[in-house]
Parts: sequence; C-alpha cells; structure tokens
Amino acid sequence: MQHNLSFTVLTRVALMMICAMGLNISITHAKEDVTDIAAAEVDPNYFQYKENFSVKRLFASRCSWCHQGYGLKQADGPRLSGTTKSKENVIEQIAYGKSPMPGFRKQLKPWQIEALADYIKALPDVEL
Ligand code: HEC
Repeated sequence: MQHNLSFTVLTRVALMMICAMGLNISITHAKEDVTDIAAAEVDPNYFQYKENFSVKRLFASRCSWCHQGYGLKQADGPRLSGTTKSKENVIEQIAYGKSPMPGFRKQLKPWQIEALADYIKALPDVEL
C-alpha cells in the first residue's frame, strides 16, 4: 500500500514535469510574447493561425479572381496597389464590399481582413 502510494505520487510528478516541458517547447518554438499567450487563451487555434497564415495565400484564394497580380494588376476589379483609400476604408471595403465586389465579413475573421488591408497598404504604387 505504502509502495503504491509513493509510486502514484512519483508518476504524477513525472507527468507534470513532462507536461511542463512540452508546454515550454511549444511556446519557445512559436517565439511568443505575453500578447500571444493571452490571445491563445481566448482562441485555442491562435498559434496554428500564426504559424500557417500567409496573407498572399489568403489574397490568392479570395481576391485574385478579380484583383490579379496579387493586387498589382487591373482585372474585373481595380489595381489595389497605390489605393488612395485609408487603411480604415480598405478594411470597410473588404468587410462590406461595394457592388459588384462582395463583402467578406462573414467568411473572414477581423484579423484576416486587417492583414489584407495592411498588405494592400504596404504595396508599392506600381502596376503590372
Ligand atoms: C467579384 C470580384 C471581386 C472580388 C472577389 C474582390 N473584389 Fe475588391 N473590388 C472589386 C471591384 C469591382 C472593385 C471596385 C468597386 C468600386 O469601388 O466601384 C473593388 C474594389 C476593391 C477595393 C477598393 C480599391 C480602391 O482603391 O477603391 C479594395 C481595397 C478591394 N477591392 C479589396 C479586395 C480584397 C482584399 C478582396 C479579397 C478579400 C477583394 N477585393 C475581392 C471586385 C472584387
């Protein structure tokens, strides 16, 4: 009985250490800061988004059938590079659309829309 009890305690301590090590590895791997930890508590998929997210991939899948050349080329939609719209107005356009452009607020998360807006505003004013 005595033996079993200490075995259980030791097993628990060992498991806790393994868990703590695992947590530490996954956190250092993601190079987190306090805001990442807070975000991950609210959104369990946060680290996954952060590691796998590509704004260009998102643009390619949602926007490039109308805005070609990753935003550098006029097609059904205008060229986005060099837009005179403010970041806030770009966010609004992506979220709510403007006929014939659809709004994306139901398909995309606010942080994804903001990432697209940052990307568009970061494009140099060049045309393909
Ligand atoms: C169905 C085609 C279509 C799709 C898909 C589309 N757009 Fe558009 N977009 C347009 C058209 C057309 C306009 C011009 C609308 C207007 O202002 O009259 C436009 C305008 C814009 C503008 C405003 C540009 C400016 O300077 O006035 C932004 C920003 C924009 N689109 C971003 C996006 C993003 C980001 C996506 C993907 C999430 C996207 N669009 C998807 C057709 C589309």
